[in-house]
Amino acid sequence: MHVDAAIRSRKSVRRFQPWPVPRATLEQLLELAARAPSGSNTQPWQVHVITGERKQALCADILSHVASAHAPDAEYAYYPEHWFEPYQQRRREVGFELYETLGIERHDKVARRQQELRNFSFFDAPVGLLISLDRRLGAGSFLDLGMFLQTFMLAARARGLHTCAQAAFAGYHQVVRAHVQLPAEQLLVCGIALGHEVHDAAENTMKTPREAIEGFTSFHGFAD
Ligand SMILES: Cc1cc2nc3c(=O)[nH]c(=O)nc-3n(C[C@H](O)[C@H](O)[C@H](O)COP(=O)(O)O)c2cc1C
Repeated sequence: MHVDAAIRSRKSVRRFQPWPVPRATLEQLLELAARAPSGSNTQPWQVHVITGERKQALCADILSHVASAHAPDAEYAYYPEHWFEPYQQRRREVGFELYETLGIERHDKVARRQQELRNFSFFDAPVGLLISLDRRLGAGSFLDLGMFLQTFMLAARARGLHTCAQAAFAGYHQVVRAHVQLPAEQLLVCGIALGHEVHDAAENTMKTPREAIEGFTSFHGFAD
C-alpha cells in the first residue's frame, strides 16, 4: 500500500471482527513502529500487548471499577480543564456525529455512556496495546509516543488492519497496572485497539473532517 493510501484510509475503528492477529504480525508492526524518530533517539515507548483471557480479565475489571463509581483519574491531562474555541466546537462535532451515526439521541445519556464504555472492550478488537512511558521523562517524550503511535497505525493499515487510539485507558491506569505489571515509574498514556474492521458497522463509516491547510498554516517568503 502506498503511504498516502495508508494515511487516507486510517480512521478510528470502533467495531472490530473477533478474528485474531498473529503474534508474528504484532512483532512486525512493533519493529516498524520502533523506527519512529524520537528526541536524541531516546525511544521512550513501552508497549504492553494483551489478548485472549488476559484481555477479557482486564476489560471485566475496568468495567467493574466503572460500575462501582470509580471516576477516571489519568496521571496526565490530555485535555484542558476548560474548553475554548475552535477546539470545543471540533470536539462536539465529532461526538455528535458519532452518536448520530449510531442513531443515539443527543440527550440519551444512558446510550451515550454505553457507547463510551465500549472503549473498555477495545471495541471488540482481538488485541489491545497499552502504551506507557517513564514519568521522569519530559513533555517531549509525549511527542515521541505520538510518532510511534502513528507509525504503528499506518503499518497496521498496510497489512489490512485497523486501529483506534484510546486515551480512555489512561483514566484506569491503576487497574491496567495490576494486569500488565506496569512498574511504578511507568505512566500509562493510552491504549490502541487493533484488528479487522466490521465493514458495515455504522460507527466505522464516519469520516471525520479536517481544516483546510489555510486554517492552520501561514507561508512566508514564497513568490506565488
Ligand atoms: C492519542 C489519541 C487518543 C484517543 N483516544 C480515544 C478514545 O479513548 N476513545 C475513542 O473512541 N477515540 C479516541 N481517539 C480517536 C479520536 O477521536 C479520532 O482520532 C478523531 O476523532 C479523528 O478521527 P479519525 O481517527 O477517524 O481520523 C483518540 C485519538 C488519539 C490520537
